[in-house]
Amino acid sequence: MFKENEMIVLKSPEEIAKMRESNAIVAEILEGLRDLVKPGISTLELDKFAEETARSRGALPAFKGYGGYPFSLCASVNSEVVHGFPSERNLEEGDIASLDFGVNYKGYFGDAAITLAVGKISKKAARLLKVTEESLYRAIAKAKNGNRLGDISHAVQEYVEGAGFSVVRDYVGHGIGKNLHEDPAVPNFGSPGRGIVLKAGMVIAIEPMINEGGYEVRVKEDGWTVITKDGGLSAHFEHTVAITEKGPEILSKL
Ligand code: MF3
Ligand code: CO
Repeated sequence: MFKENEMIVLKSPEEIAKMRESNAIVAEILEGLRDLVKPGISTLELDKFAEETARSRGALPAFKGYGGYPFSLCASVNSEVVHGFPSERNLEEGDIASLDFGVNYKGYFGDAAITLAVGKISKKAARLLKVTEESLYRAIAKAKNGNRLGDISHAVQEYVEGAGFSVVRDYVGHGIGKNLHEDPAVPNFGSPGRGIVLKAGMVIAIEPMINEGGYEVRVKEDGWTVITKDGGLSAHFEHTVAITEKGPEILSKL
């Protein structure tokens, strides 16, 4: 990951307004996916919906072709952590499915993810989803002018580990703007008061990836799909957040 000598591009209020538009498209599509997800639908159908809806809004799917990624949507089911390939396999009752989607709209990127329950899920899976989503909101609350990056990272780690789950180390959040991935890297683990000082105009994608068992992960033979080493469940929520004079603004929200 990037370290010192980071190039953090600050965004003007006009640019943030544009990112509000690209992220609104992402949010709308994720809400559409939320309505579609049920036992019997395949993640390839979800990919098709996401791509077609984005194009109909004049947006380009951001992930397709990025580093060679072959789909528009990342669909990571159960022990898949992130970057799962959509497939013809139908979702089944009891599955959890992380859906991660991004667009490029008029030159600015939007990026967000949710993990959804397919039908009725186990108590433990439901708690994993709740804790992961809550950790994202705790992190967002720290995305304030004058705070440090480590305050965000620590907020996730402290809450998640306190709940008995673990934080994935090998993948992190990121700055976002005219590029899908910009500096700074935004880890979901770290120490409060450490790291760069957050400033109004920074826009970051915060994306906790949380495992029910150990934090270790590996990449499958397809070269993309990240899975838990121990086969335990994993959940993932992501928002694109602007740091403004008035506090954090979640751009990828309906
Ligand atoms: N939200 C993910 C990320 O920021 C999705 C990227 S998938 C890729 O890393 F295919 F575009 F790499
Ligand atoms: Co992201």
